Order: sequence, then C-alpha cells, then structure tokens
Amino acid sequence: MNKIHAAITAVNGYVPEYVLTNHELESIVDTNDEWITSRTGIKERRILKGEGLATSDLAVPAVEGLLKKRGITADEIELIIFCTTTPDMPFPATANVLADKIGAKNAWGYDLQAACSGFIFGLATGAQFIESGKHTKVLVVGGDKMSSIINYQDRATCIIFGDGCGAVLLEPNTDGYGVIDSVLKSDGSGRAFLHQKAGGSLKPATHATIDANEHFAYQEGQAVFKFAVTNMADVAAEVMERNNLNSDDIAWLVPHQANKRIIDATANRTGVSADKVIINIERYGNTTNGTIPLCLWEWEDKFKKGDNLILAAFGGGFTWGSIYLKWAY
Ligand code: UT7
Repeated sequence: MNKIHAAITAVNGYVPEYVLTNHELESIVDTNDEWITSRTGIKERRILKGEGLATSDLAVPAVEGLLKKRGITADEIELIIFCTTTPDMPFPATANVLADKIGAKNAWGYDLQAACSGFIFGLATGAQFIESGKHTKVLVVGGDKMSSIINYQDRATCIIFGDGCGAVLLEPNTDGYGVIDSVLKSDGSGRAFLHQKAGGSLKPATHATIDANEHFAYQEGQAVFKFAVTNMADVAAEVMERNNLNSDDIAWLVPHQANKRIIDATANRTGVSADKVIINIERYGNTTNGTIPLCLWEWEDKFKKGDNLILAAFGGGFTWGSIYLKWAY
C-alpha cells in the first residue's frame, strides 16, 4: 500500500470584528503609523472585545465553518490539537473547552504550547496520528486572544499583536498529497527574550506581580528579531534542500506573520519571488498561533491540487520550524 500522508482537506478562519488601527494606537501610546508600518508592515489588527469571551470563542466560528465546508459533523472529529499561548484557563485544556462548545463528543484533545511556532508543531504532530493509522480526522487549531496578555501601555509589544484563529482538518491521503516533511527546532535558552513573567508555577500571580505588569507578554524585540530573521529563513531553506526543491518548485511560501522584514528575509533566503509569498500582516498583525492557518484560509481559493507549500515560523522559547506539504484539493 502507498504511504499514508496527512492531507489538509479543509481550512477555515475567524477574526473578531473590532479593528485596532495604528492611528488608534497613536492615541494610546507614544508611537506613530509611519514607525509601525516601516518597522513591522502592520497597519491594523483585530481585537476580541466583550466580557466572558476567550480564545475558544475565536475557534468556535472557525471550526464550525470548517465542518460545514467539509460537510461533516463535529462528532466525526477524533482528535483536537489546540495550539495556543493564551488558553481560556491554565487548565483544563482549551481543546476540551472547544470540543464541548462545538459538540465534538467523540474527540480527545490537548493543547500545544510552542508560542508562535505552535501551529507548525501542531500540524507536524497531528500528521503523525494520521500517518500511523491511529486517526482519520484530526483537527489542528491555531488561535490566540493575544489582547488578553498585552499591556497597551507597552509600545514594544502592543503594536505587534492581534487576535485571530484558524483551523485545518487532516485526513489520510495515499496519492502523495499532504504533509511530506518537517524540520522542527527549539532552544530554551531563548526564553529570556520573550515570555510572560508571572502566572506560572515559577511566579504565581499575586497583587505584586499584577502591579508590576508581569502578567503581560514581555519581549526584547531586537534580540528576538536577530534570531528570528536567520532561523526562520534557515529552517525553510533546510526543508527545501532536503526535499530537492528549488524556488521554482514552490507555489507558495506561508510564513509566520511577525514582522514584514522577517518575512522578506525568509523569501530572499529561499529565493521564492514576492508574488508567491503569502502576507496579511498589514491587516491582522501577529496573531501568534493564528497567523499560518489564517493565511491558508485567505489564500485557499488560489491554491491548486499538487501545489508545493512551504510553511515556516519562529517564536518564543525559542521555537522554530518549517513544513513542506503538497496541497490536496
Ligand atoms: O512572533 C514571535 C517572535 N517575535 C518577533 O519575531 C518580533 C521580532 N522583533 C521585531 O519585530 C522588532 O524588534 C520590533 C518590531 C519589536 C521592534 O523593531 P526594532 O526595529 O527592533 O526597533 P527597536 O526596538 O530597535 O527600537 C528602535 C527605536 C528605539 O528608539 P531609539 O533608541 O533608536 O531612539 C525605540 O525606542 O524605535 C523606538 N521604538 C518605537 N518608536 C515608535 C520602539 N518601539 C516603538 C514604537 N513606536 N512602537
């Protein structure tokens, strides 16, 4: 029998309605549209407003739309991998919350935490359950309500991040379509440069940690940039080289949307021309686990069966990775 690959058979996304523009940020912190646009490529981002709404509430419309597109019901899902850095609660897993909200009564699931590389790690992991024959319908969700951990007085972070969620369905394919290869990496010494100081077991939340704003994301942008710009490009080039792919073989480069300058560096390193690089950072900013599935969702209509896609991400941890997949429909 031919090898089983994990093919993406449906994709969908959801972004909340509220648009936070650079101009609105100018009225909140000492920044300006020209600086944000030239340093990051971001013009606006989406924010989930309203009491009692969490990351799972971004996932529900994304997944319900996906199920409708594929023409299946929630109880056919066997496994949910929820890639997120902003779970609804520290426990239980947001995968469980989502399963309950959509009625996925036959699914087990877990959350996967790899910061901005989460969706890449989740897709690679989900693919294993398909390739092994263990499961036939795996949902990989990537989503974050980044606004829940952003200090809107900190111009180093608040200009970058936004809220959003995307999801893909993985199913077995024996015709050579789907996830072909992945290169995944991490280096925990990078945690110093991008992390949330309090709220974990190292420093449980107290009045003092709240007063010190330690429940928000902390980033040393320049240090992260330096690692991201080389590692994301290198890992994308590595997965291409070991699969004997040159830039002409690539239909689409799907980079994590953290900074337009990091995306450009990855495109240059891989030789993929600008018209094949998927970019929506100007509208959504960095939605962490949401960036890559949101790109797949928005470009779905342009993909053709057999297209070679290279996905690449870099994130806190540090974590980074790249996936080579053949589009299946
Ligand atoms: O997705 C997860 C991984 N994260 C990333 O990949 C993010 C990587 N880092 C970055 O994208 C960039 O480092 C940032 C966009 C965060 C910052 O851009 P930068 O070009 O590295 O700026 P910088 O921190 O070196 O700051 C340059 C100048 C400084 O002023 P001086 O010292 O040159 O006078 C900052 O104080 O820009 C100033 N600055 C700002 N000015 C206006 C910093 N933030 C802002 C701001 N608005 N928001």
